[in-house]
Amino acid sequence: MTLNAMGDEWWRTATIYEVAPISFQDSNGDGKGDLRGVLSRIDYLKWLGIDAVWLTPIYQSPFRDLGYDIADYCAVDPVFGNLDDFDRLVAALHEAGIRLILDFVPNHTSSDHAWFFESMRSRDNPKADWYIWADAADNGGPPNNWLSRFGGSAWEWCEARGQYYYHSFLVEQPDLNWRNPQVRAALADVMRFWLDRGVDGLRVDASAVLIKDHLLRDNPPNPEAKGKPPPQRDTPVFTDDRPETMHCIEFIREVIDEYPGRLLCGEVQGKTDRIGHFYGNERPRLHLPLNFALLDSAWDALSLQATIDAYRNALPKGAWPVWVIGGHDKQRVASKIGQRQMRLLAMLLLTLKGTPFFYMGDEIGRERVPIPPDRVRDPFEKLVPGYGLCRDPERAPMRWDDSPKGGFTTGEPWLPLEHDGTPNVAQQRGDRDTILQLFRQLIALRRAHPCLQYGEQEAIPSRHDVLAFRRVAGDRKVLIVLNLSNEPRKWDCRGHGRILIATNPDRRTERLEKPTVLLRGGEGLIIEIDA
Ligand code: GLC
Repeated sequence: MTLNAMGDEWWRTATIYEVAPISFQDSNGDGKGDLRGVLSRIDYLKWLGIDAVWLTPIYQSPFRDLGYDIADYCAVDPVFGNLDDFDRLVAALHEAGIRLILDFVPNHTSSDHAWFFESMRSRDNPKADWYIWADAADNGGPPNNWLSRFGGSAWEWCEARGQYYYHSFLVEQPDLNWRNPQVRAALADVMRFWLDRGVDGLRVDASAVLIKDHLLRDNPPNPEAKGKPPPQRDTPVFTDDRPETMHCIEFIREVIDEYPGRLLCGEVQGKTDRIGHFYGNERPRLHLPLNFALLDSAWDALSLQATIDAYRNALPKGAWPVWVIGGHDKQRVASKIGQRQMRLLAMLLLTLKGTPFFYMGDEIGRERVPIPPDRVRDPFEKLVPGYGLCRDPERAPMRWDDSPKGGFTTGEPWLPLEHDGTPNVAQQRGDRDTILQLFRQLIALRRAHPCLQYGEQEAIPSRHDVLAFRRVAGDRKVLIVLNLSNEPRKWDCRGHGRILIATNPDRRTERLEKPTVLLRGGEGLIIEIDA
């Protein structure tokens, strides 16, 4: 199918794959992945069957926070290549029928950005108002009690201006002033720069924190602070998810809508019951606010049933659901639930109604990679140690084969890879029974089957640790049953049918002679029920 044949809302039926390019494939032996590396792996992406790739930031950056600290929005960092490499990558992905989504980081820049150098110089330069500046409190300390997510006060003193500036994250990541129309216009131009180059969508980073309270009111203490890392000891009511932030997202959406068929997804914060707001009402906001509820849920059938229901209830009418099972900020779920249950999660992700997102390595059941203390790169871990917040274990380079450097690089990998015997692509591609093959089959089925593409999702009461639901399109009906227990379970399918995919490969296409099916421990089935 050509890209255009999929229509403007291609993302409804797409499977989206997150890639952190620095850890995907190195092409020049410097131990860091790059754009040519991604280009060289397009065959794999095509084989896997994903429809779109989302790249974490590739822009010029001192790389203090995985490139989320941008020094030039319109340049590719030399570590990753250059704009020509980028254009070649877009063309080659499109040729392969794969779309490209870029990370867009509008909340903050790097303190190395030219805008910030100018802004910090004086109180009356042309960009004086491009960042969030405030006078000291009466005692000379920070203007209020706001905390940085990465530890300590969110305010940093600037000698040249005799003022503080605000940073939601690192000291080296000053927040832009989204109340300033010039800032909005400049960021709109950044979006157009990449959209004009053929990018199919943007993922808005930290979209919930774009505006902070203009009265700078102090945040109240968090009643559930006990045992939490210091940055979470306040409740961020005056810094996060402000009503004015929604207008910024509407503005970003208007720019996207200048280009038909482009996707706006975004990182949102807070509880499931807030997610509906990020879709917008009269004025549209994000097409797809990323939903991490499956990762936050306890891993048992009743908790998952409740999590899925709560999320679906929180969606406004007409909103298209999203499900995410991994990411560069999230602990690897395979480490939490184990390899067998990971197969169930793959089946769940790719059968629920909504757009599935997964993260490079999830498809081989990648687990957290142990990082020795002297190799830690993540500033979060360095600044807030001792709470298990380090994100390096999921950012370690991709394992393509079982060689010491994993087929990722010929040099010294920027983060260590785990030892031999861990899952890798080459071994799993060659074995029909692996989780990689299961992912591939599930993606292919989802693409081919109308029930899984756009069918309605109907709840079925979960019992005895079996999670079940139906997807229905016209007179076709697909039943999904996932046995989360380690014991066999009987399930009444209320009809005859045929197994389309089983998490145990030897059961793949069995016909059900009886309406009752016996599920093995930890087994999941997709069953087409006879019409
Ligand atoms: C987003 C990114 C995260 C980064 C933060 C600050 O949450 O996903 O990786 O640390 O923004 O830029």
